[in-house]
Amino acid sequence: MTIFITVEGIDGAGKSTHLEFIAKTFDAKSMPYIMTREPGGTELGEKIRSILLHDDMTVSTETLLMFSARNEHLQKKILPSINQGVSVICDRFTDASYAYQQGGKGIESNFIEVLEKLVHPELQPDLTFIFDIKPSIARSRISHERDLDKFERSSEEFFKAVRNNYLNRAKNNSRYCVIDSSQTIEKIQKEILVKLEEFI
Ligand code: TYD
Repeated sequence: MTIFITVEGIDGAGKSTHLEFIAKTFDAKSMPYIMTREPGGTELGEKIRSILLHDDMTVSTETLLMFSARNEHLQKKILPSINQGVSVICDRFTDASYAYQQGGKGIESNFIEVLEKLVHPELQPDLTFIFDIKPSIARSRISHERDLDKFERSSEEFFKAVRNNYLNRAKNNSRYCVIDSSQTIEKIQKEILVKLEEFI
């Protein structure tokens, strides 16, 4: 079965480790997949990513750039992959625009809804993992050995708003699987596996 999985959570929620585990599960079942990320995923998308992560801009410009990168990503990579029967595991997608640009930065939801309808009117992920964690714990997990990007430098208040937006979107929608990311890695992996086995 071909599936489109997205992985979300505030910065420091442990997404990278869990993405690796999801990929290993696909490997173990010999299921073809690609692993990709947003913003980014294509040559142009990665250039847009570096602007997004480091340059100051208004929230509407930021949202438009997120969707420009996403449009390129969908047309050049995500849709061709799904059409060839290759599953897609994507580190963030449109839920991140709602969580960060709407929840965190206050752009009205309609601005994002319009772009979502234009850029991917038909497509939604089959499954979205949200790795949920308190911003105070997440902050202590973000590496202090490297320079933090624009988003990672945001306040705890900002991440609380981002987190609430994710959790509200997940309510009453079976596409989402919210996992408590403060649990032990074993427990988290068990929950991921139980969910994945419904699909693969
Ligand atoms: P992230 O996956 O967290 O990068 P890294 O793995 O290097 O930490 O994504 C980069 C940032 O982009 C993250 O802080 C969230 C932000 N973002 C948005 O604000 N809106 C979006 O639509 C997307 C896809 C990401």
